[in-house]
Amino acid sequence: MLQKFDSRNADLKVFIKDRLYPRDQAKVSVFDSVVQGGDAVWEGLRVYPEGIVCLEHHLNRLMASAKTLAFVDIPTKEFVKSAIDQTLKANGMTDQTHIRLTLTRGEKITSGMDPRLNQSGSCLIVLAEFKPLVYDNSSGIKVISSSQRRNGPEFLDSKIHHNNLLNNILAKIQANVAGKDAGLMLDHRGFVAELNGSNLFMVKGDTIYTPFAHACLPGITRGTVMALCERHQIAIKEADLSLSELYNADGVFATGTMGELTPVIEIDGREIFADDALMKRILTLFKTSIRSYCELLT
Ligand SMILES: Cc1ncc(COP(=O)(O)O)c(C=O)c1O
Repeated sequence: MLQKFDSRNADLKVFIKDRLYPRDQAKVSVFDSVVQGGDAVWEGLRVYPEGIVCLEHHLNRLMASAKTLAFVDIPTKEFVKSAIDQTLKANGMTDQTHIRLTLTRGEKITSGMDPRLNQSGSCLIVLAEFKPLVYDNSSGIKVISSSQRRNGPEFLDSKIHHNNLLNNILAKIQANVAGKDAGLMLDHRGFVAELNGSNLFMVKGDTIYTPFAHACLPGITRGTVMALCERHQIAIKEADLSLSELYNADGVFATGTMGELTPVIEIDGREIFADDALMKRILTLFKTSIRSYCELLT
């Protein structure tokens, strides 16, 4: 599914470093670390009238990713919240909004990898757009397995939510070429890791399974689904899952802030049943409770 331009986003205000800029002036320097080496961390947030879904979890993950990458001047949560608040208010956004929150290591005094060249402090970008859920969750998505492996900690820990997602982008290109919606990535051992931009779950019998977070982002939506299962006494297990197990699952679904919960109806040409009762139950539980996970900025 290819996202389309939303005319409500034509005159956006974007927060960069310390203030808001109109969309056509919202730019970072060619010396910024994100341009130089993808040296940045990010979060995707969803806004409902009740607040931002799992705001604290997202801010904690942003801070943790920045700490792992040894950013020296990570902004406080209060600063980030204030920047988000200013951006949402300036754009009149209270619903159907997605925020791409990026923290770059900032501008360098000259091009190069060395973080000691970053002498202007980090750069926070709050890009909020009107963006309803990106998939049609009633019809589901078709995916193909990709030859691109998802990183594990032996190369670049998938627990860092960084801007170096080229292997995921290559997986998405493979899916595009095949005319499918997303690329399914395996870990270096050949077990299922995740889709190129969302986590995966499968239903078998009365149990829900999801891959260990060894080679996938430990998604916040993934965490919400696991917590919902526990709260409603639905058996949930993390496991090493092979493609064969997914092909023969009773139901498969993807999770992420962009699309929330999306049934996967085909993997590598194998049809996956879309009407499993347990899968439908968890999809409904999520839909009816997601707003209770919203947190206000102040
Ligand atoms: C590679 C990848 N996997 C999974 C997810 C879903 O994570 P979350 O549920 O925190 O949005 C994302 C979202 O950014 C992602 O980039």
